[in-house]
Amino acid sequence: MEIIFKTGDITGIDTPALVVNLFQGVSQPGGATGAVDQALDGAISRLIQDGEIKGKPGEISLIHTLGKIGPVRVVVAGLGPAEGFDAQAVRRVSGSVLRFLRHRGIRRAATIAHGAGIGGLDPQASGQAIAEGALLGLYRFGIYLSNAAVAPADFEELTIVDRDSGTASALELGVARGKVMADATILARDMVNEPANVMTPTRMAEVAGSVADAGGLSLTILEASEMRELGMGALLGVAQGSDQPPKLIVLNYTGDPDNPANNLGLVGKGITFDTGGISLKQPGGMEAMKGDMAGGASVIAAMQAIGRLKPAINVTGIIAASENMPGGSAQRPGDVVRAMNGKTIEVINTDAEGRLVLADALCYARGQGLTRLVDVATLTGAMVTTLGKVCTGVMGNKQGLIDQIIAAGRTAGEKFWQLPMFEEYKDLIKSDVADMKNSGGRQAGSISAAFLLAEFAGDAAWVHLDIAGTSTSERTKGYQIKGATGTPARTLAQLALHLSEEEN
Ligand code: BES
Ligand code: MN
Ligand code: ZN
Repeated sequence: MEIIFKTGDITGIDTPALVVNLFQGVSQPGGATGAVDQALDGAISRLIQDGEIKGKPGEISLIHTLGKIGPVRVVVAGLGPAEGFDAQAVRRVSGSVLRFLRHRGIRRAATIAHGAGIGGLDPQASGQAIAEGALLGLYRFGIYLSNAAVAPADFEELTIVDRDSGTASALELGVARGKVMADATILARDMVNEPANVMTPTRMAEVAGSVADAGGLSLTILEASEMRELGMGALLGVAQGSDQPPKLIVLNYTGDPDNPANNLGLVGKGITFDTGGISLKQPGGMEAMKGDMAGGASVIAAMQAIGRLKPAINVTGIIAASENMPGGSAQRPGDVVRAMNGKTIEVINTDAEGRLVLADALCYARGQGLTRLVDVATLTGAMVTTLGKVCTGVMGNKQGLIDQIIAAGRTAGEKFWQLPMFEEYKDLIKSDVADMKNSGGRQAGSISAAFLLAEFAGDAAWVHLDIAGTSTSERTKGYQIKGATGTPARTLAQLALHLSEEEN
């Protein structure tokens, strides 16, 4: 879909549908919506009076203009209460309205810059949110549907219309950034939605290769033999039950070549299918475990965005990609593995595999000289119990970096919530036979997992993001589509932008 700009009078524009908006509780619309209302002889304000249009969040009202003005239709989108209005409301409206129009066979539309007038958003933020909402809300994963041809056709063009030509360049800048952020999110969604017979560790490495080629990033793939030389016994222990060769995928972006201390390492869990291994999972819902590489996908996607946005910071993406299968040579409960830093782990439960592959990936990141690390993983079912699918759990050893993630998430429209790392929790992973065990049992499952990871982050500033709940959505709403969300690709890219601004 193309997103283009026009300055001028919105009531004169020739389009199948013009999108305007309304805050909840407003009886006399002002701004652009007011201008359209006037040109329609008060049609919108009458519908408000009649109680048909309320401006509630998610509300969409369609008015046919019957030749009175340029646009064939006007869509009034509810923004919800003016209080608390933000870019996130614009993302939601943009996504749901375009899906509504596509469903009716409409393929082109014009929109006002939601929020840039009365809403008080700056035009760049509005443009970015409109682009992200539109591209993400129209997302479909239909490549395996034989009769996809009968589905509503793709949307072709969205025109953002603004009366004030002075805001055009800011809007355009915002749309450009929004496209990069949406493309990254879509890459992550596509990878997660792919079935595990396609999205193998090898395929993940290939996707990383295309991202590297297109964005001028450098790529290194470590094979099992190199992992063995480096002493990555934890990662290899997980991989040994599968016929799919594991890959340690390393993407490098150098945005501040003279300043190696200005670095960020993004480390992703890339379990392309998690059967649980010998500690086999229940069959019900196991198909969802094709998405156990969502952390790795979001890191590859964020590296794509970073390569395009070119922040002044050095960023390395490291993805530990493997299957977790119960093959004849699979590791057993009770096995002891030794990670790259020499620490030993008793494998109590082979289904707690994410922390094992991340242990070696974090060691490798430290070995690369990275001093600021963020890992992303669909790590624990306990996370879904604790925070549901609303926000990502955050844990770490450095409050400043945790706060920066949360702030980046607020800009990107992704929610995070911090869990405590009280040292008493560390007792949960004490082992009788090794330095630690990989399962802390039923108590505080997400935190005990984080405590294992902390052993491998060493003295780096480190934050762990558990996306077990947020990596997928159960329903289509706003700019979210049922299936993979792409979380937290935008936040990771935004973090790199924030950090680069801070260092300069
Ligand atoms: N990939 C799962 C966690 C998960 C569960 C992600 C549900 C998304 C939705 C992880 O590898 C796992 O199996 N964790 C175990 C750990 C336990 C054995 C200590 C879990 O949460 O049950
Ligand atoms: Mn598991
Ligand atoms: Zn897993």
